[in-house]
Amino acid sequence: MTHSLSVIILAAGKGTRMKSAKPKVLQTLAGKPLLAHVLNTCAQLAMQKTIVVYGFGGDQVQTAMTDYALTWVEQTEQLGTGHAVKVTLAELPKDGKSLILYGDVPLVSAETLKKLESANHQGMSMLTLTVDNPFGLGRIKRDEQGNILAIVEQKDATADEQAIQEINSGIYCVDNALLHKYLPNLSNDNAQQEYYLTDIVKMAVADGIEIAAIEPAQDFEIEGVNDRQQLASLERRWQAHLVEALQVAGVQFADPARVDIRGQVSVGQDVFIDVGVVLQGDCQLGSNVTIEAGCIIKDSTIGDNTHVKPYCVIDSAELGSNVSVGPFAHLRPQTQLGDDSKVGNFVETKKTKLGRGSKINHLSYIGDATVGEQVNIGAGTITCNYDGVNKHQTVIGDYAFIGSNSSLVAPVTIGKTATVGAGSVITKEVADNALAVARGKQVQKSDWERPTKK
Ligand code: UD1
Ligand code: CA
Repeated sequence: MTHSLSVIILAAGKGTRMKSAKPKVLQTLAGKPLLAHVLNTCAQLAMQKTIVVYGFGGDQVQTAMTDYALTWVEQTEQLGTGHAVKVTLAELPKDGKSLILYGDVPLVSAETLKKLESANHQGMSMLTLTVDNPFGLGRIKRDEQGNILAIVEQKDATADEQAIQEINSGIYCVDNALLHKYLPNLSNDNAQQEYYLTDIVKMAVADGIEIAAIEPAQDFEIEGVNDRQQLASLERRWQAHLVEALQVAGVQFADPARVDIRGQVSVGQDVFIDVGVVLQGDCQLGSNVTIEAGCIIKDSTIGDNTHVKPYCVIDSAELGSNVSVGPFAHLRPQTQLGDDSKVGNFVETKKTKLGRGSKINHLSYIGDATVGEQVNIGAGTITCNYDGVNKHQTVIGDYAFIGSNSSLVAPVTIGKTATVGAGSVITKEVADNALAVARGKQVQKSDWERPTKK
């Protein structure tokens, strides 16, 4: 078991500067709580145990993280980072190693953590970075040979030490045996009267342990979030990173700064994404897909050569290839649009399968429906799917033509190649090849005299 890896995530801080009723680690970045980013990264490394140290808002944090298998440890008083790790000792395995991470440092990558783990040869490795402005952070003290001696906190640092530009990220990989050995011996005899986790470095040095340090591939990996400005700036950095990866994959963005990615996006070649597009959850975009301005697309698959015109909202839908959608269409969950189909402006669909080549061009609500191939649904068609209690199905056969402004009162079936006259309220099955007209007959009175004002 000596090679097994655990992780301790410190998440007890209140995040006072956020001015929020929500614990800091539940604030969202790219649509996900900060802590969920860390946990998703940990899920990419096989963890023996994931321990989360919580304090403020523990109930809220635990409720939000029920998808993960976690060991929760409460730190009732925030007496410092060393104290926070010390309270986990009862839960911490005696052998193996632990990564020490932070719920408010969301973007450390799995690759960096793997490197950090492999750098730990003698019991301790740490993630450091040389920065222009190290103010406020712990400094890495090294001897003339470059061996790490200690970490000195800003408030405890001499003027010479303050000039050091290599800073402590706070992220480490430490042998559990050393954590069990050193943490009970921490003291709070320092400028902040806190139990500093950083003191384990000098304890290890005193034991003759050579401490390894590596740097992250991206500097934002070690950036923490303490206030709304930092959160927003980290969000922008992360968005730029995600957009860059998609550009490398061949996507053309009208403006890489005016798009938001809040999930996983896979793409074919020559995808074009215009300004103001938000992609959420799992989205798959085929080759030659065009997404015009202002579209919000969530958990959806979009086939090759499909064109989504401006201001569409698409949620949990599957679009075939050569489809045209919008402008201003709302595709709700379980919408499936067949190849070559078309959904035009001000059309809402839900739980609807639209066959190949079928069209709903204008101003319609089609829900709980199965529509065949080459069907034309006229402007203003409504599937009346809800009777106030239950939802009912509408089935429309291939080549059917639904005249404009028709209401199809479900459950109802329109046969193949059937025609529904405009303005009909259809309540009964329409047979294959039949014409159904269900509307008031036109009355005509010749030479009708209008009433006059009395
Ligand atoms: C710490 C490091 C510093 C490093 C910096 C990087 C120490 C003593 N110093 O400083 O060297 O450069 O991080 O950002 O470790 N936390 C708890 N319980 C506590 C105290 C803290 O859970 O009792 C959590 C906080 O919620 C926060 C994290 O630990 O997420 C860091 O705590 P913070 O007080 O911000 O440490 P720094 O003083 O910034
Ligand atoms: Ca801090």
